[in-house]
Amino acid sequence: MTFGIPREAESAGAGSGAAVTAVADVRPAAAPGGTAAGAEPGRTPVPATPPGTGPAGGSPVLARHTGEPYRPGTPHARARIDLAAIRANVGRLCEAAGPAEVMAVVKADGYGHGMVAAARAALAGGATWIGVAGMQEALTLRAAGVPGPLLAWLLTPGDDWHAAVAAGIDLSAGADWAVRAAVRAAHATGRPARLHLEVETGLGRGGACAGDWPALLDTVARAEAAGSVRVVGVWSHLARADEPGHPGCEEQLAHFRSAVARARRAGLTPEVLHLSNSAATLTLPEARFDLVRPGLAVYGLSPVPDRAGPAELGLRPAMALTARLASVKRVPAGHGVSYGHRYRTARETTLGLVPLGYADGVPRHASQAGPVLVAGRRHTVAGTVCMDQFVIDLGDAPASPGDEVVLFGPGDRGEPGAQDWARAADTISHDIVTRIGARVPRTYTGDTPAGTC
Ligand SMILES: Cc1ncc(COP(=O)(O)O)c(C=O)c1O
Repeated sequence: MTFGIPREAESAGAGSGAAVTAVADVRPAAAPGGTAAGAEPGRTPVPATPPGTGPAGGSPVLARHTGEPYRPGTPHARARIDLAAIRANVGRLCEAAGPAEVMAVVKADGYGHGMVAAARAALAGGATWIGVAGMQEALTLRAAGVPGPLLAWLLTPGDDWHAAVAAGIDLSAGADWAVRAAVRAAHATGRPARLHLEVETGLGRGGACAGDWPALLDTVARAEAAGSVRVVGVWSHLARADEPGHPGCEEQLAHFRSAVARARRAGLTPEVLHLSNSAATLTLPEARFDLVRPGLAVYGLSPVPDRAGPAELGLRPAMALTARLASVKRVPAGHGVSYGHRYRTARETTLGLVPLGYADGVPRHASQAGPVLVAGRRHTVAGTVCMDQFVIDLGDAPASPGDEVVLFGPGDRGEPGAQDWARAADTISHDIVTRIGARVPRTYTGDTPAGTC
């Protein structure tokens, strides 16, 4: 397998059991603020320094072990998004994919990181295209002023094709009905619709099957000759790119090449061919063609976690999910914890209550398994994850309400990664970051300088 990226030292070892530095429980903060938190358009701003709690607004305290200001009004949980990491990750992907260009995939609210902020950071990092699933996502990006080629690929007849064509959004078409919708929109707006033809090569999802491909090409070629559409691209999607070396990838590549040849014979001249997600971008050079469509790797997560972690791929996870303990209490041995009492304390111990639950995206499947870091020590979810909260068994470690709990992050402090939660919940890291709910405010660091994109 070729990653095309030099191996780098892993960031601070996850689970390294690093010595815990004792820090006074609470003490006056040296300075307010701390993070250069900015709000993404469309999101509720979360001030780095909550109003009325600045130097003149009372005595902020430092949460145990973190050095971060903790004041009344501090959100009880948050996802910090490192935009500089997104920029750097995209730079890595450009380097790996070149000369192919990079379409940064920012669907599903930028995989939970904030769609507009992620798109801007990706463009600043070198992406020349932005990709989303739904038309509404594309329209939202345009309305926010995100420039450049922008593709939406999961469309329905009820979508606002007219608005999309008017906004210069590239649209996928894998069936006749989509071409007809594009033609109608072109007539209504007076500008040709830019289409990317989707061919089914083996994923068994969208796109025209081999038997329907010639008829689709015929329809499109006529629409292009009439000036109603322009066929900008031909694309497909791989089923098993995350299993490098799987023969299914080669089979899909062969189908793709023959579908492209057929499109050319039909007189079409697509400018971009694209097939690769993150895994293929990093491990399957022959699938890169003119354009790659990475999503997960943009956010610094490994698309091939059994083969390489983010650092080995030259990536840095962009999201850190933290919470503050809502309660801390001593309980005796044999104390049942959470619904169903799936956990029972083995001895007298301290239980900490973490105010995040499955309604916030903490997978219920990670009950008894999800890892967290508190004061430099790993703990595991004790019992069942509830809708708004879960419990951890802190043993005899000192702890207070307000102490920071790190669910996942880039690993600098030995905290778990999103992939660790994916393993705990028997899922993939895409599923972990995209599910973080709307109740969890996002704060942004490493902002994209104005005017960069
Ligand atoms: C069509 C398409 N292209 C690209 C991607 C990006 O995939 P990944 O996040 O694995 O890089 C996706 C994500 O599901 C997708 O649906």
